[in-house]
Amino acid sequence: MMSSYPEHDLPDTLLSENYPLSPLTTLHTGGEAEFFAQPDTIPQLQSIIRAFRRAPVYVLGGGSNVVVPDGKIPGLTVSTHKLTFATWNDKYSAEIGSGFNLSSLVRINSLNNVGGLEFSAGIPGTIGGAIMGNAGAGGHGVCEFVDAVVAVDPSGELRTFRRGEFEYGYRRCSVSGVIIVSALMSWEKYSAWDYDSYREYAGKRKSQPMKYPSAGCTFKNPPGNSAGKLLDECGCKGLRVGGAEVSGIHANFIVNSGNASSSDVMELAEMCAKIVHERTGITLEPEIRTLSPCFIAQ
Ligand code: EPU
Repeated sequence: MMSSYPEHDLPDTLLSENYPLSPLTTLHTGGEAEFFAQPDTIPQLQSIIRAFRRAPVYVLGGGSNVVVPDGKIPGLTVSTHKLTFATWNDKYSAEIGSGFNLSSLVRINSLNNVGGLEFSAGIPGTIGGAIMGNAGAGGHGVCEFVDAVVAVDPSGELRTFRRGEFEYGYRRCSVSGVIIVSALMSWEKYSAWDYDSYREYAGKRKSQPMKYPSAGCTFKNPPGNSAGKLLDECGCKGLRVGGAEVSGIHANFIVNSGNASSSDVMELAEMCAKIVHERTGITLEPEIRTLSPCFIAQ
């Protein structure tokens, strides 16, 4: 029943109520969406947004860098993970759906001998999420390869942001307040796929916890320093709040060792940031994001 929002004629298969979101996150915590949709196509997404006038709209991509609050998430939550279409112009450029898996793209480029994305080895998530947070490693980010971003705005209209109309930096991209649906990406200016550097990046993942669910690195690296190293030196490894624990393998990871809630995770993150600030004077900025409204549908 669509009691809180205007009437709609969306099929039941497109919309669910009280939908648990924790299975859609790598941390496996958090509550339920009041309304939830996972469209297969861009036009479906547009009609969903148009049907939800005045509702807060939350967006989930691959769920690998996000903490979903506990309890009910009011309004509409949209997952883009089924927007997996992709059209290659040639092996150096393609339009990729925002739900396309970053690791799959990395594999395709390696098979095509197209270099550039080697640093993405082992980064989980979708292209849309990777662009939103300019996911990366070793000084590189996914946005370097993005020529244009196509997105749905709060009125359900399609908008295109070309290179120069958006900016990005370390773990940030200025495209916000819209739902990314695809990206035009190209790799012409990069040399052949470099297996050694790919293996080197993949090897670094061995020093990261894989056994338990997590949302990847908790904090960004402060300029000229390493968050993991600072947290380790300040004795944070092994600290716990409820079912959330600072990994003993890498201090910049909070793992869900059992029945952690999202508030356990956030409380533990705040505790760690406080300890590091008290001991070193350095303020750690979170890298993981709390799921918050992307926009209010118009
Ligand atoms: N270190 C410690 N103790 C720890 C963790 C790390 O002493 O508990 C030391 C390491 O020995 C190393 C230094 O800290 O000397 C840096 O650690 P690491 O090489 O693991 O890299 P990082 O800076 O912590 C970055 C990215 C990761 C990415 C790795 C590997 C950020 C915030 N993190 O981690 O990205 O996987 O490099 O490429 O930029 C993510 O974004 O979610 C993420 C995990």
